Amino acid sequence: MDFGLKDRVVLISGAGRGIGRVTALTFAAEGAAVAVVDMDGDAADGVAGEIRATGGRSAAFACDITQSAHVEAMVTSVQSTLGGVDVLVNNAGISRDVTLLKMQESDWDRVMDVNMKGTFHCCRAVLPHMKARRWGRVINLSSRSIFGNPGQTSYSASKLAIVGFTRSLSLEQARNGITVNALAPGFVETEGIKSHRSYAQLKEAAVARIPVGFLGQPEDIASTIVFLASEQARYITGTTVFATGGRFSS
Ligand SMILES: NC(=O)c1ccc[n+]([C@@H]2O[C@H](COP(=O)([O-])OP(=O)(O)OC[C@H]3O[C@@H](n4cnc5c(N)ncnc54)[C@H](O)[C@@H]3O)[C@@H](O)[C@H]2O)c1
Repeated sequence: MDFGLKDRVVLISGAGRGIGRVTALTFAAEGAAVAVVDMDGDAADGVAGEIRATGGRSAAFACDITQSAHVEAMVTSVQSTLGGVDVLVNNAGISRDVTLLKMQESDWDRVMDVNMKGTFHCCRAVLPHMKARRWGRVINLSSRSIFGNPGQTSYSASKLAIVGFTRSLSLEQARNGITVNALAPGFVETEGIKSHRSYAQLKEAAVARIPVGFLGQPEDIASTIVFLASEQARYITGTTVFATGGRFSS
């Protein structure tokens, strides 16, 4: 199927590794030009290099999305290097897993700053171009943990905030040809998770709770993001898609 993404410019935050990296490679395979954005500039360089090595168009941009001035400068740089952004994937996200009574205010603030404020900064910086062209796609990464996970009060709160943010922004932009959706993954087997010291036990415990009986792969999330960015998804906006293998509650 042709998703209509050839030569579209796609900006993905946190694309230096994990779900963001695989999403960048998947968009590149569809012929899109990909802005690989990450706080870790070397990781971003590596992914953009992988795309160029296979004949794709891509450039890396080192940026901390919590800083509005950095984001504005980064988006200006993406526009002059690859063109105006057609698709924005707000993927960069962090957790600081600790029970509430042990949580430091600085941990709470950092989770909110990256997951919520970073998404706000990126949307505000790219929407004017989408609005001018009357076409755009915004995909915001939420999480299954919005239904609750012990040790994740800050993360769950930030990811449920993304659902409300998505609904309101979708209504603001619906008449401008811009769709705004959220995607809530369940447990996804990324390099970061695989390197965890109790990975084997974690995996066994997670699989036991996932109705389909296996962990999600970054490719499962990337393909859903690409679909939400496609022409075919033009009638889907303001929703949250769950890619959780059928698991919802804790
Ligand atoms: N992996 C999972 O099981 C899972 C499940 C549900 C939701 N998610 C969500 O999916 C998204 C991607 O998850 P992942 O597991 O691939 O993450 P990851 O930790 O593997 O990668 C996140 C990337 O974001 C970058 N980043 C962090 N803070 C940043 C900042 N301030 N500015 C710019 N870049 C920054 C990091 O450098 C890193 O490269 C996140 O939003 C996460 O919350 C992941």
